[in-house]
Amino acid sequence: MSKDFRIAPSILSANFARLGEEVANVIASGANWIHFDVMDNHYVPNLTIGPLVCEAIRPVTTAVIDVHLMVKPVDRIIPDFAKAGANVITFHPEGSEHIDRSLALIRESGCKAGLVFNPATPLDYMDYVMDKLDIVLLMSVNPGFGGQKFIPATLDKLRDARRRIDAWRDKTGREILLEVDGGVKIDNIAEIARAGADTFVAGSAVFGAGRDGDHHVYDTVIEALRAELQKV
Ligand code: DX5
Ligand code: ZN
Repeated sequence: MSKDFRIAPSILSANFARLGEEVANVIASGANWIHFDVMDNHYVPNLTIGPLVCEAIRPVTTAVIDVHLMVKPVDRIIPDFAKAGANVITFHPEGSEHIDRSLALIRESGCKAGLVFNPATPLDYMDYVMDKLDIVLLMSVNPGFGGQKFIPATLDKLRDARRRIDAWRDKTGREILLEVDGGVKIDNIAEIARAGADTFVAGSAVFGAGRDGDHHVYDTVIEALRAELQKV
């Protein structure tokens, strides 16, 4: 299994009045990617941020901006996020009428492409598009909100996804990342890694950690998450 782990704080739980600082601070605290949750009050019952905000944070960091589209439809907005500086763009199969075309569009726009699977969405959507996937994201909560509890059935689903990805790598030599999103905390990240994930979104675990006087404590949380990953 890959010991090359990525921690991707979700800015959904950040302080939006100071978003640039928050982004700079989590990266300075050892985070690898910035996870950017886009919600449209249509595909999911919440409304968040768009390409304008992506463009605004782009100059703040050289870290990968990992755009998670919880919108329907997806094609119209993909090139906008690419222009706004996104590096990775993922979407839910339910959000696109033509999954293969949407994945190709993301790559043509110059980004890494991925599919996101809700807790009840079967992994079969991967089967005929493996060649167009750079990343697979398994939701371990129903999408729409931060701060929900990790759904344990995700562990078996991660093992299933890991088998498919490893079989593909053995056949083609191509790597596909396996990301998990929702309810990832210090006390469960090791178990999630053992099930096969290599990239971990953590929103409330990182940004909910609060402050110690005038200082954020993101470094403490991220160190603790990494210490757990070291045990894997
Ligand atoms: C949920 C979002 C997640 C969310 C994770 O729809 O996709 O990225 O911010 O938040 P936590 O880590 O608090 O579950
Ligand atoms: Zn997300």
